[in-house]
Amino acid sequence: MKRKLLLTALLLLPGAALQAAEIDEATGLIRNPGWELVRIHCGGCHSHATVTGQRADRQTWLGMIRWMQATQNLWQFDAATEARILDYLAENYPPQPNQRRAAIPPALLPQPDARRL
Ligand code: HEC
Repeated sequence: MKRKLLLTALLLLPGAALQAAEIDEATGLIRNPGWELVRIHCGGCHSHATVTGQRADRQTWLGMIRWMQATQNLWQFDAATEARILDYLAENYPPQPNQRRAAIPPALLPQPDARRL
């Protein structure tokens, strides 16, 4: 009996770990550590969907923040807040290898003749 319980627990454990991260209904943000900072600081000018639809590494996220600070009136963050925001963004919205579709094979592109039809 004890062994059966242990086995069941072992089988269920990875399932629990793989459980999808909880999504905040109002913003669509993944509710992982730091998400409240992004909710507060990143939804005032555009939808949070602008954030959740983006994928980038930490450096590129930082570049977007610097661009918004330089050109879009985004305010400055203290170093600790900025680090937590970047940690959250880089961990939860990292680059994805297949973000762009594959190139269309040349044979499927319009041929010069097609223009004359
Ligand atoms: C003061 C206003 C403001 C705030 C606050 C703000 N943004 Fe932006 N952001 C903009 C503007 C303006 C644009 C460009 C127009 C658009 O996409 O709506 C933009 C664009 C973006 C884009 C699209 C960039 C691209 O290259 O396509 C992302 C991603 C983004 N913001 C993320 C964030 C994150 C993350 C935060 C919080 C750290 C944030 N924004 C806070 C003004 C702001």
